[in-house]
Amino acid sequence: MSADRPGFLTSSSLPGRTTSRGAPSNPTEETVTAPIVAVSDVTKTYDPTGTARPALDALDLEIAPGEAVAVLGRSGSGKSTLLNLVAGLDRPSSGSVTVAGVTLTGLSEAALAAFRRERIGMVFQFFNLLDDLTVLDNVLLPAQLAGMRRGAARARAEELLEQLGIDRLARSWPGGLSGGERQRVAVARALMNRPPLLLADEPTGALDTASAADVRELLRSLHAEGQTIVLVTHDTSLAAACAERIVELADGRLVRDERTGLAPQGVSAVTA
Ligand SMILES: Nc1ncnc2c1ncn2[C@@H]1O[C@H](COP(=O)(O)OP(=O)(O)O)[C@@H](O)[C@H]1O
Ligand SMILES: [Mg+2]
Repeated sequence: MSADRPGFLTSSSLPGRTTSRGAPSNPTEETVTAPIVAVSDVTKTYDPTGTARPALDALDLEIAPGEAVAVLGRSGSGKSTLLNLVAGLDRPSSGSVTVAGVTLTGLSEAALAAFRRERIGMVFQFFNLLDDLTVLDNVLLPAQLAGMRRGAARARAEELLEQLGIDRLARSWPGGLSGGERQRVAVARALMNRPPLLLADEPTGALDTASAADVRELLRSLHAEGQTIVLVTHDTSLAAACAERIVELADGRLVRDERTGLAPQGVSAVTA
């Protein structure tokens, strides 16, 4: 598997590399780095009458560029809702969400779609690949939607497939692949447009133990290369392996926010 190969994504292939990351050496430096995700006083209610308990309840959360954050919490605690709001797939009932310099509040559907295309890579539990497209065409799709030149897109897609160790599958149909292979294709697709933010919602939730370990190593490598990642998972060992910061939701509120011992690229382990 290629994921544990050092430097399998070049630094220059990832955005946001010039921004300082991790624990700053003095407190004033901290205020200099703009968060890549700023969720501010966000409430999300699905119930139009507003009588049901909100899925997110006055939530505040900031994520710095280069951080890998795992979001834990029981089923129904609001994890997917949070991810969907950050991805611009849904809108908060109140409060504001700013991602990679874009304030999502008030954007049109078209502007949100452009935001997602350019700034967000997303990986889901059940892969969400298009079964009537080949692996290569699945990976090319985000670039086509973004209007990238075909030759450049193809070169980028082939490079990603090779880096993720699935270049031999370029002409295969997703339906014939193992779960672990499908998730690698989904990660390649998510990275196609070099998004500053990678979101993953239970990416190992449908995988066997060996494939889950592959995806875990892949996420670790991506983070070590500087990719900002927000990972929603039930799996505390996945969170501990991939994230330097763990937040936990309960009933739509933040009940925990702490640093793990994981210290990629010298990020110091401090308990928040
Ligand atoms: N589309 C929806 N319509 C109505 N209720 C929803 C919808 N999505 C989520 N919910 C509710 O919001 C709460 C949080 O759900 P979710 O964010 O999916 O939690 P998690 O991902 O942590 O399991 C749950 O009570 C869930 O039933
Ligand atoms: Mg969920």
